[in-house]
Amino acid sequence: MKGNVIVGQSGGPTAVINSSLAGVFKTAKDRGAKKIYGMLNGIKGLLDEKYIDLTEKLDSTMAIDLLKRTPSSALGSCRFKLPDVEKDPETYKKIFEVLNKLEIKYFFYIGGNDSMDTIQKLCAYGKSVNSDISFMGVPKTIDNDLAITDHTPGFGSAAKFIASTMKEIIRDGHVYDYPTISIVEIMGRNAGWLTASAALAKSDDCEGVDLIYLPEKVFDVDHFLNKIKELSKTGKSIVVAVSEGVKVADGRFVFELAAEHVEFVDAFGHKQMSGTATFLANKVTAELGTKARAIELSTLQRCAAHMASRTDITEAYNVGGAAVKAAFEGESGKVVVIKRVSDDPYMAITETADVEKIANIEKKIPLEWITDDDYVTQDLIHYIHPLIQAELSPIMVDGLPRHLNLSMQ
Ligand code: F6P
Repeated sequence: MKGNVIVGQSGGPTAVINSSLAGVFKTAKDRGAKKIYGMLNGIKGLLDEKYIDLTEKLDSTMAIDLLKRTPSSALGSCRFKLPDVEKDPETYKKIFEVLNKLEIKYFFYIGGNDSMDTIQKLCAYGKSVNSDISFMGVPKTIDNDLAITDHTPGFGSAAKFIASTMKEIIRDGHVYDYPTISIVEIMGRNAGWLTASAALAKSDDCEGVDLIYLPEKVFDVDHFLNKIKELSKTGKSIVVAVSEGVKVADGRFVFELAAEHVEFVDAFGHKQMSGTATFLANKVTAELGTKARAIELSTLQRCAAHMASRTDITEAYNVGGAAVKAAFEGESGKVVVIKRVSDDPYMAITETADVEKIANIEKKIPLEWITDDDYVTQDLIHYIHPLIQAELSPIMVDGLPRHLNLSMQ
C-alpha cells in the first residue's frame, strides 16, 4: 500500500474515543498500512512534530483490547482552532511539511464539531496545493450535538453513567426520615442530550429524577424556585438534573449569575461551564431556607469506562474502521455518520457526510421532545435507550480496571 496513515484525537475525551482509535488502527493495519502514526495532542502537537509510531506501540491483540477499554484520549487531545489560511498560510505549510515528511496519505481526526473544523480546513488547503492526502473525520462527543449523525460515539456511555449515577443519587436521597434536595449538573454545553439521559433512571425500581432543565429552553430562576417549593410540600426528596449550559432570558448562563464567577474562554470561544448546580443550590437555601446539595458530575461522566455501553464501544470502533475504509476507497473531506435503521431491534449502519455539513454546527434536542412540566418525552427516552445497552467489562488487575497508558509504555 502506498502512503502512511496518521490519526489524532481532539476536543473533550470520552469513555470510548480510544475504541475509535483502535478501529482506525486495526482496520488500516489489516488493509495493508505499513506505518500508522498517532499525533500527540492532536493537530497542535503535530505542528510541533509530536507524534508516535502506533505500529510499535500497539503490537499485540491484548494492547488493542486494552485500548478499547481505556477511557480518555490515549494520544492526548487539544482545543486548538486552525487559523484562517489567508491570515496564516505558514501554519498550513508547516503541517503539510510534516505530513509529507512522514509520507502520509491518510489523515484521520477523531473529534466533535470543533475538531471537524480542522478536517474542513486541512482538506480545503490540501486541494489548493494539489495534495493527494485524504482527510477524514471520525465522530465523537459525549455532548451528542453533531449534525446528521443519529448520535455520536461517547454519548451512550456517558448517558449510561448518568442514568446509573442518578439512580444512586436518588437512593441516597431517600436514606433519612426527612427529604433532601440534590441538584445535579451535567455536561453537554449548549445541547441537553446528556442531561435528558437522566430520565432513563426512572424505572420499576426507581422513582426517577423530578425535574430536568435543558439549554434548549430559557431557564427561569423564579420558576425553578417555585417548582422546588411546590415539590417540597409533598415531603419527598427531590433530585434535579440541570445542564451546565442553561441560560436565563437575557442570554447569560446561569453559572454567570454567581457573584464569585470567574470567566475562562477556549480557542473556539467556548466559556468554561461550571457552577450552575452550586448557584442553584445556594439559591434554594437562601430563598427557601432548605438544605440543598450541589453535585457537579464534571469529568467523571466523560471517562467512566467502568460503566461504558458495549453498544457505544462497538459503534466507536466501527466508525473508526468505516473512516479507514472510506478513505482507502478514495473519499476525503468527509465525516463518518451513524444511521439508525431500526429501533426495535436496534440496528445502525455507517455512512459518510460532507464535513461542511458537520463542522462548527450544534445539533440540539427538538423542542417537541421537551415537556412544559420540566421533563422530557417518552420519544426522547426511546431514542437514548438502545444506546446505553450492554456492557464490556474492564480487564481488572489488582482490583482495578487496567488501562493502556501509551505515555508509560
Ligand atoms: O465537548 C465536550 C465537553 O465535555 C462539554 O460537555 C464540556 O462543556 C466541555 O467538553 C468541557 O471541556 P474542557 O475539558 O475543555 O473544559
